[in-house]
Amino acid sequence: MSKMPIYMDHQATTPVDERVVEAMLPYFSGRFGNAASRTHAHGRVARDAVERGRSQVADLIGAKPEEVIFTSGATESDNLAVRGVAEARIGDGKHIVTVRTEHKAVLDTCAALEREGWRISRLDVDSNGLLSVDALADTLTEETVLVSVMLANNEVGVAQDLRAIGALTRKRGITFHCDAAQGLGYLPWSLDEMHIDLASLSAHKMYGPKGVGALYVRESLQTRGIPAPQIHGGGHERGLRSGTLNVPGIVGFGLAAEIMKNEGATEAERIGSLRDALKNQLFAEIEELRLNGAADPRHPGNLNLSFGYLDGARLLLELAEVVSVSSGSACSSAQPGPSYVLEAMGVPKDWSGASIRFGLGRMSTAPDVQTVGDSVVATVGRLRERSPHWARRANGKPLDW
Ligand SMILES: Cc1ncc(COP(=O)(O)O)c(C=O)c1O
Repeated sequence: MSKMPIYMDHQATTPVDERVVEAMLPYFSGRFGNAASRTHAHGRVARDAVERGRSQVADLIGAKPEEVIFTSGATESDNLAVRGVAEARIGDGKHIVTVRTEHKAVLDTCAALEREGWRISRLDVDSNGLLSVDALADTLTEETVLVSVMLANNEVGVAQDLRAIGALTRKRGITFHCDAAQGLGYLPWSLDEMHIDLASLSAHKMYGPKGVGALYVRESLQTRGIPAPQIHGGGHERGLRSGTLNVPGIVGFGLAAEIMKNEGATEAERIGSLRDALKNQLFAEIEELRLNGAADPRHPGNLNLSFGYLDGARLLLELAEVVSVSSGSACSSAQPGPSYVLEAMGVPKDWSGASIRFGLGRMSTAPDVQTVGDSVVATVGRLRERSPHWARRANGKPLDW
């Protein structure tokens, strides 16, 4: 393989930590048993490994092991949470509240329910990407059964006021789901203090393997039959998610969670200062640059910038040999087009079209950040020299903002 560019797309996915790879390996061959096999040692070894993984994930989020339901990732967890609560609570009302900037796994599940007769309220956000808690309070009705708001936004990294939202939902007996795929271990977050009832997690966003995640389900919900299962079969995972468990994946997820618990806070500081160094360099050396999303609170690895007077596709192409970054959301790159998150924040198309998400993480180093910063400055300068938009600006015609 020729030399790969510097990786700065940690919000799309993270490399699997070497320690995690090591821990997973024995579970592909020697310890390959089915965790549901009750009659022999091979099954017991696999089951013990799964239960250890469950405890490690539970420890990271401050939950009981029984409250962790393993899934294939946050997309499935979001589906199970939203549709599962809707089905289980249909007798209490048919209204769900979410936010325009949530991940598609939540938004599309809500849209599917809407087609089945549910009322869905999608809250607006301001230019910083933040929702108004007062507006949320005004939207809740006697019919509302679920509120779904994420921890950190995957495109712009901003974190909503989950504590205030949880206080509202708890008071009114509304189930509160939080997609915590991004920012877990880096941002302040507490199931109990924020009154979160369900939370979606994904291993591959935290240096674990792809294809495994979890839904946290508060015990008091489980005893009321919430959520309704969406995948039926052998009754695995307390009947909430059937299917043979991905034992190596869960072993990896568990260790990734333990590492995040032990190292997340220190790592967040290191990544945050690298991110700020990149931001400071770019703002010092590039004109007509905008930060998308509130500066704080924000995922420490996320820097989403719009470059004025530039063609975004061209910029990405020119940078691709140096750095792997994404435009908009790589999570929904199956659907190219303008970013719905930036659109919801009111970013004009001229700007949102030339936006880049720099996603720093465990792999990022100070020399890499310097290389990327220098390269972005040089590339933007070169492209603008040839840009008719830039010439327009020189003639006193600024872009709208
Ligand atoms: C906030 C958020 N939710 C859900 C997902 C989907 O997670 P997964 O890839 O584990 O299905 C992603 C990323 O892809 C995400 O960033």
